[in-house]
Amino acid sequence: MNKTAICPGSFDPPTNGHLNIVNRALKIFDNVIVAVAVNMTKEPIFTPEERVQMLREIFKEQRNVEVDKFEGLLVDYANRRGVKTMVRGIRNMSDYEYEFQMALANKTLAPDLETVFMMTEGDYSHLSSSIIKEIITFGGEGKGMIHPIVEKKLKEKLRKKI
Ligand code: COA
Repeated sequence: MNKTAICPGSFDPPTNGHLNIVNRALKIFDNVIVAVAVNMTKEPIFTPEERVQMLREIFKEQRNVEVDKFEGLLVDYANRRGVKTMVRGIRNMSDYEYEFQMALANKTLAPDLETVFMMTEGDYSHLSSSIIKEIITFGGEGKGMIHPIVEKKLKEKLRKKI
């Protein structure tokens, strides 16, 4: 049977930590849908279309990765797509608490849906989208933390502001 998982997130911007989770999910699942959340509680710097475009470019050689965006509840999106598994990365204890809450809420809303957690690999445990934005804003480089496509877009977006 063909197994598909959704990797949901804000991806504002995607970091190498996110890409690592998607690539490792592909060792377990046949296909991965990278699902970009449109209605975020945080104020995003990239539009949903920009985030989707970056991710599509990054994964363009990988035919088993689809990049899509969704509005509203993740469980409704998963249901519409007929997918029963989500994959999320966990970096530390505070991620754990947040993810645990989210997984339980999703389980209450959609008992059929499972969340699979992956421990972030060592090199990425300190990374976050906010840290990357700060580094790029103040003139730092994103090597090893973000894909070159993301770095280019971030520099265009953030450095013209200062
Ligand atoms: N490696 C490195 N960094 C990671 C990471 C990893 N493996 N996983 C997460 N992060 C970081 C991100 O860089 C980001 O950093 P920031 O806080 O500085 O921006 C942060 O962790 C979380 O970002 P991300 O994983 O992109 O997404 P999110 O936690 O904002 O996404 C959704 C959450 C979209 C999955 C969730 O809000 C959702 O499902 N929304 C839809 C509405 C809904 O259904 N709500 C009910 C859910 S209970």
